[in-house]
Amino acid sequence: EKAGFDHFMLKEIYEQPKAYRDTMRGRIGEDGKSVLLKELQMSDEYVKSIRKVQIVACGTAYHAGLVGKTVIESLVRIPVENDVASEYRYRSPIITPDTLVIVVSQSGETADTLAALREAQRNGARVLAITNVVGSSVAREADDVLVTWAGPEIAVASTKAYTSQLIAFYLLGLHMTRVLGTQETSQEEEMITALQQLPEQVEEILQQAAVLKQVAESIAHHRSLFFIGRGVDYAVAQEGSLKLKEISYIHSEAYAAGELKHGTLALIEDDVPVIALVTQEALYEKTLSNIKEVKARGAHVLSIVNSGFELEAAKSVDEVFAIPKTLPLLTPALAVVPLQLLSYYASLALGHDVDKPRNLAKSVTVE
Ligand code: F6R
Repeated sequence: EKAGFDHFMLKEIYEQPKAYRDTMRGRIGEDGKSVLLKELQMSDEYVKSIRKVQIVACGTAYHAGLVGKTVIESLVRIPVENDVASEYRYRSPIITPDTLVIVVSQSGETADTLAALREAQRNGARVLAITNVVGSSVAREADDVLVTWAGPEIAVASTKAYTSQLIAFYLLGLHMTRVLGTQETSQEEEMITALQQLPEQVEEILQQAAVLKQVAESIAHHRSLFFIGRGVDYAVAQEGSLKLKEISYIHSEAYAAGELKHGTLALIEDDVPVIALVTQEALYEKTLSNIKEVKARGAHVLSIVNSGFELEAAKSVDEVFAIPKTLPLLTPALAVVPLQLLSYYASLALGHDVDKPRNLAKSVTVE
């Protein structure tokens, strides 16, 4: 059932190109120029009435929501708040009838996420669920459901469900954009074309897994490390850090690169590994200057960059891993893949139970 792979996690990482294609299938028009989410019950009138979006989820699904915020805000220009479901419930969130609440859940059974959905509906908001399980509690109770067609995810550490959630956010953003006319048609088309190239681009990354195995083996003996990035790179850094913690048990922290000097820089000393995501062209210089700050304190820096920027980046860092070029908003769907492989190989090098990390369950149905 592992189809020749040593672990479900590795199999699921390799299933991502298929998961991307399956999640896009039937949702992009024949002409390849428009997104059609026929399953959504919400009317165009309703979409026009949305004044605020709240994205609520736990763990990895929450991290997908962080990317979702940038996608919706930059494409649709509606303000978006992100909440961890267990916090949302108890902070008296301001939920109005013109708030669209998006819950994200692979299993569709996470207790806090389900409770958040109910809380939102009680307050008159419409709830859209992004979930991987048709017929799950979340899918049954939400007003609208956008299914991620990642297929069953067995490994506790979520990989293909997360990336499929990103695809769902891109599709949703494009759908709302079309209804609201917030982007030029040519920009929508450019994004749809780029979306369709992602599966092949993930395949290109997977072909370089051996390089990441080597890097993972070199970081596995460290007690602590840092992930840094700006914008969506920061969102991906948070997911990379969670993945590493949960299966390798190595302590790590994700930091917004510009925030380091407000405290965390004190922890950077000789040989501390720093994984820096540098995929946002408009922020290259800013992030490179943060990299110089950690390098000056002895950090060993691995950077994830866009293809074409390797040589320039190599001047400032110790190791460079390039991902294929795509649009800035879409880079998370590529940049997270090397981080998934790093965690997998680090866990393997340390002899841990990759698919069933200690203390964790696949589905958290208790609060
Ligand atoms: C981490 C992981 C968890 C889940 C979280 C939410 O790899 O899998 O953080 O993402 O427990 O689960 P779902 O998405 O099923 O609601």
